[in-house]
Amino acid sequence: MTIYLNGEFMPIEEAKISVLDRGFIFGDGVYEVIPVYSRRAFRLTEHLRRLQHSLDGIRLANPHSDGVWASIINELIARHEAQDQYLYLHITRGVAKRDHAFPNPPVGPTVFMMSNPLLIAPADQLHNGVACITAPDNRWLRCDIKAIALLPNVLLRQIAVDAGCAETILIRSGSNNESSFMTEGAASNIFVVKSGKLFAPPKDNLMLPGITYDVILEIAVANGIPHEVRKIGVAEVFAADELLLTSSTKEVLAITQLDGKPVGTGKPGAMFARLHKLYQDFKRDVMRQNNQ
Ligand code: PDD
Repeated sequence: MTIYLNGEFMPIEEAKISVLDRGFIFGDGVYEVIPVYSRRAFRLTEHLRRLQHSLDGIRLANPHSDGVWASIINELIARHEAQDQYLYLHITRGVAKRDHAFPNPPVGPTVFMMSNPLLIAPADQLHNGVACITAPDNRWLRCDIKAIALLPNVLLRQIAVDAGCAETILIRSGSNNESSFMTEGAASNIFVVKSGKLFAPPKDNLMLPGITYDVILEIAVANGIPHEVRKIGVAEVFAADELLLTSSTKEVLAITQLDGKPVGTGKPGAMFARLHKLYQDFKRDVMRQNNQ
């Protein structure tokens, strides 16, 4: 497999990073996961905008213009066989003597990219939905930064795996009299459906602003699907008719079981069916425009 590291393309076996890299020592870096369909990076502009937001959040200069990113990304895509891929892009604050404070003077960042075949959700998950489990959201207060320091997310996802579930839905304790509310999944965004209306939590510091989340809301606007963006209380999650999970690698999935109990009818519902189809249409239209 060919990867990209600091200006060079090379077989993954030849890629070497210093043990003093701040990504390794401190988890001091940010990343992106970009889906690639028919060899085209999907929503690249939006992913690069979020990357800039993450870099600003950790006060790390962007090493490349969007044009340079696009050409490196396209080169990496071209070096892989699969038509559909998921591209992983990772930037750290570089290699320096271990010290929590930023290196002064700054050292160059480490830039790493790899691409793997994008595996679409298995038919079973599309037809039957997936089971999820809830857990307290014990992460920091800058979940809008796509930080490589993912230990809380790793531990939270493992709770799901240990329970035979696909994802952990995260619940934040409210402050003062505010009740607990849902933020997102350990590696996905979550939507609630009630009485034919789609509800999404607001893009604030407590969740990652998902690119797929934005596509779903764009689709809702374009197709007149009733929707509302607002805080979602934990009771509303348990009383939902449908729950949906979105991410770049999973697209849209129905959550049909939560904490061992059925969600709504326990089968993927009408909103899932509609959004799943509209998402596929949306993807096809974008790809067609790209190819013109
Ligand atoms: N994760 N929330 C979190 C915490 C995530 O890690 C992700 C994606 C999302 C969904 O964002 P998007 O629609 O832009 O993929 C929400 C990626 C896929 C990952 O870490 O592998």
